[in-house]
Amino acid sequence: MDFRIRLWVVIIICSQIMLIAAVTDPNDVAVLNALKSSWKNLPRKWKGSDPCGRKWEGINCTNSCVTTLILAGIGVRTNSIGDIPSLSMLQYLDLSNNKGIRAVLPPTIQNLKNLTTLILVGCSFRGPIPDSVGSLKQLVFLGLNNNSFIGSIPPSIGNLSNLSWLDLSQNQLTGSIPVSNATSPGLDNLLKAKHFHLANNRLSGLILPKLFNSNMSLIHVIVNNNQLSGLIPSTIGTIKSLEVIRLDSNSLTGTVPQNLSDLKSVTELYLSNNKLSGPVPNLLGMSSLFYVDLSNNSFDKSDIPTWFTRLPLNTILMENTQLQGEIPSDVFHPQLESL
Ligand SMILES: *[C@@H]1O[C@H](CO)[C@@H](O)[C@H](O)[C@H]1NC(C)=O
Ligand SMILES: *[C@@H]1O[C@H](CO)[C@@H](O)[C@H](O)[C@H]1NC(C)=O
Ligand SMILES: *[C@@H]1O[C@H](CO)[C@@H](O)[C@H](O)[C@H]1NC(C)=O
Ligand SMILES: *[C@@H]1O[C@H](CO)[C@@H](O)[C@H](O)[C@H]1NC(C)=O
Ligand SMILES: *[C@@H]1O[C@H](CO)[C@@H](O)[C@H](O)[C@H]1NC(C)=O
Ligand SMILES: *[C@@H]1O[C@H](CO)[C@@H](O)[C@H](O)[C@H]1NC(C)=O
Ligand SMILES: *[C@@H]1O[C@H](CO)[C@@H](O)[C@H](O)[C@H]1NC(C)=O
Ligand SMILES: *[C@@H]1O[C@H](CO)[C@@H](O)[C@H](O)[C@H]1NC(C)=O
Ligand SMILES: *[C@@H]1O[C@H](CO)[C@@H](O)[C@H](O)[C@H]1NC(C)=O
Repeated sequence: MDFRIRLWVVIIICSQIMLIAAVTDPNDVAVLNALKSSWKNLPRKWKGSDPCGRKWEGINCTNSCVTTLILAGIGVRTNSIGDIPSLSMLQYLDLSNNKGIRAVLPPTIQNLKNLTTLILVGCSFRGPIPDSVGSLKQLVFLGLNNNSFIGSIPPSIGNLSNLSWLDLSQNQLTGSIPVSNATSPGLDNLLKAKHFHLANNRLSGLILPKLFNSNMSLIHVIVNNNQLSGLIPSTIGTIKSLEVIRLDSNSLTGTVPQNLSDLKSVTELYLSNNKLSGPVPNLLGMSSLFYVDLSNNSFDKSDIPTWFTRLPLNTILMENTQLQGEIPSDVFHPQLESL
């Protein structure tokens, strides 16, 4: 081969390599460039026209499409999430801890069919949580806590059969906790969920018995600081995996179901600041119990319960619960830190 031909071959091969490198899907490039021109405080290193090839900060790609977008805690400011819903191969989206994101979550979020993780924690998202989040069938992690979402919890979330983490706490959500019925899914369908965090909202209505069943995998049920009323359903006692139960600061009434005490893995139980009545619950079966707060309820007058001395407790809070009589000295076992 003549030298000039060889040079041409080299040049052609090199330019092909460069073409292969510059392969970020044109739609994805357009979406990111639009964000770049309208969002404040994106990473300065978002330069050039090939986000995948040039490895733009916060972005990862598979087969030339953006699959990961992480822009957490960098002071992003915007009033709209732009065309993120058209990054069609996106699997992981984390915009958390950017108080300057004052956007709504549009119904078109459902276009992200491959999304497994959606983390929008600690921003200023407003408006309702769209029903269409229930179409993100691959979702494993949904963290929308610490925002300004309003409206009710979409029952469609019950359709997310792989969901493990559900955190909607610290918003302004109203309405009741949805359970399934003949025509609609509900949170009781989330058999793989380990976390229900719904605290610090304005949820009201009953905690329906159907919300809990023995096929669930929950470890945390955290619904404190709402306006929930009615009885504590005994069905909660069927979820043997439970470790932390927070029902405090609601308007729950009636007696504490005895089945609760069947939960041998529970380490923390908060029932304070409700209107619970009847006998002080017998928690003797909760053999892992470490922290218990039953304060500010209307239990019957009672002597110090025997479980005070028989469980490995570190903290017992029983302020204003009509306990009477002498405190047995064996309550003060070595691991007890607060009484
Ligand atoms: C992208 O992938 C690389 C290598 O797997 C990893 O080190 C990096 O943390 C990922 N970046 C993001 C934003 O996920
Ligand atoms: C995205 O989802 C489609 C089907 O919805 C699937 O064919 C494809 O393999 C998924 N992509 C990845 C990277 O998982
Ligand atoms: C909510 O998020 C902001 C930052 O975005 C943070 O300062 C604040 O501590 C968070 N609040 C809670 C209760 O997590
Ligand atoms: C749930 O996850 C499993 C295992 O990762 C996967 O095979 C299955 O397709 C997922 N189901 C849905 C509805 O996405
Ligand atoms: C839930 O999923 C079922 C079956 O896939 C579907 O028929 C139904 O429309 C979905 N419901 C909602 C509210 O998304
Ligand atoms: C079924 O549940 C949905 C959503 O929670 C609710 O709007 C509807 O009224 C319920 N239907 C019946 C027959 O109770
Ligand atoms: C639990 O799952 C089994 C097997 O799928 C089913 O037969 C049973 O009815 C379920 N129990 C409850 C309480 O939903
Ligand atoms: C809870 O216990 C009561 C009696 O103590 C029983 O009638 C009820 O069926 C139990 N509920 C569940 C869901 O196990
Ligand atoms: C019980 O109620 C009083 C008066 O409202 C309050 O100051 C106290 O913090 C409450 N105790 C607990 C443990 O929540």
